[in-house]
Amino acid sequence: MMRACRREPVERTPVWLMRQAGRYLPEYRRIRAQVGFLELCKNPALSAEVMIATVDRLGVDAAIIFSDLLPILEPMGMQLEFLAGEGPVIHNPIREPADVHRLLELDRLDSLGFVMDCVRATRASLDDGIPLIGFAGAPFTLASYCIEGGSSRAWLHTKSLMYTHPSAWHDLMDRLARAVSGYLLAQLDAGAQIVQLFDSWVGCLAPEDYRRFVLPHTRTALAAAAARAPVIHFATGNPALLPLLREAGGSVIGIDWRVELAEAWHTVGYDRAVQGNLDPAVLLSDRDTVRQRTLDVLEQAAGRPGHIFNLGHGVLPQTPVENVLELIATVKGFRLNPPAPASL
Ligand code: CP3
Repeated sequence: MMRACRREPVERTPVWLMRQAGRYLPEYRRIRAQVGFLELCKNPALSAEVMIATVDRLGVDAAIIFSDLLPILEPMGMQLEFLAGEGPVIHNPIREPADVHRLLELDRLDSLGFVMDCVRATRASLDDGIPLIGFAGAPFTLASYCIEGGSSRAWLHTKSLMYTHPSAWHDLMDRLARAVSGYLLAQLDAGAQIVQLFDSWVGCLAPEDYRRFVLPHTRTALAAAAARAPVIHFATGNPALLPLLREAGGSVIGIDWRVELAEAWHTVGYDRAVQGNLDPAVLLSDRDTVRQRTLDVLEQAAGRPGHIFNLGHGVLPQTPVENVLELIATVKGFRLNPPAPASL
């Protein structure tokens, strides 16, 4: 995994999955029957155990800390709750320019100590050869939660604030970017070897708006971590943003399934590694289809060093576990250039 991040040759393509620990796993559902989701995130020993058990069960090549994008917003003044069946809700959203000051500076990370404890606990129990990925939400995706107050399909409150009040928007994004930058560094200090930035909702923007309203802030969020470790920069929904994601930063660019991997890599440039990009819904089909579609993605990488196999977005809760295992076995069994047979 570390070599692939640096585009060095590897004996096989590394694989891990976004949302690899989650509701599709019966053992995760058993734990969640006892503990609320935020409570689980705030219990470093238990959240580390959830991820270690998942890595052992799946045999993946990387672990990501078990946490979420949104807990960073609590010490910044947002009232966060995860409602069963609905997902995250923020009870005091930011809607007007005058609300932006309510998003507090995150100058001390003590209040997120449980995340750094989770990094330490996971790293301590993880096999030496398996890197641990820390992560954060990107400024745009975090801003959209602060403004919408939860998940959204059209991001109209977010776009209204952005277009109507650009200086309040930049103030909000700057607060988030500096918080994320410090948060990623703290995870590296605690022992994460890689960090991933999730810009899950930024695909709703046109490229020129990304350039103007998002790119400078994402660059701020990533720069300090990028000087110390591989950074995976992931977004979904709009392949036209790929050249701009590259410009904003990241030694690895995460690719969703709406573009072919070969084309995406050509657009991003071969001087960056790529991660992706099987449609998570393929895992709802049968094992033969999973195997074939996994091979299709592997072949698109054309043996170039610097491909990390992943889905184009997180594992869906309805996914059969045996299809996930089939995917992983397919990636691990794949050799583009098989080594010459040993002479007798
Ligand atoms: O990848 C992993 O296994 C590690 C853990 C992880 C979670 N969330 C656990 C989680 C990671 C890396 C995330 C990131 C995250 N969280 C993202 C970015 C990835 C993406 O999907 O785009 C986003 C947008 C969130 C915000 C979030 N968290 C939503 C919208 C929801 C509710 C919808 C859903 O899919 O459940 C969550 C809850 C959440 N985060 C769960 C898990 C395991 C389910 C909680 C439960 O047990 O009910």
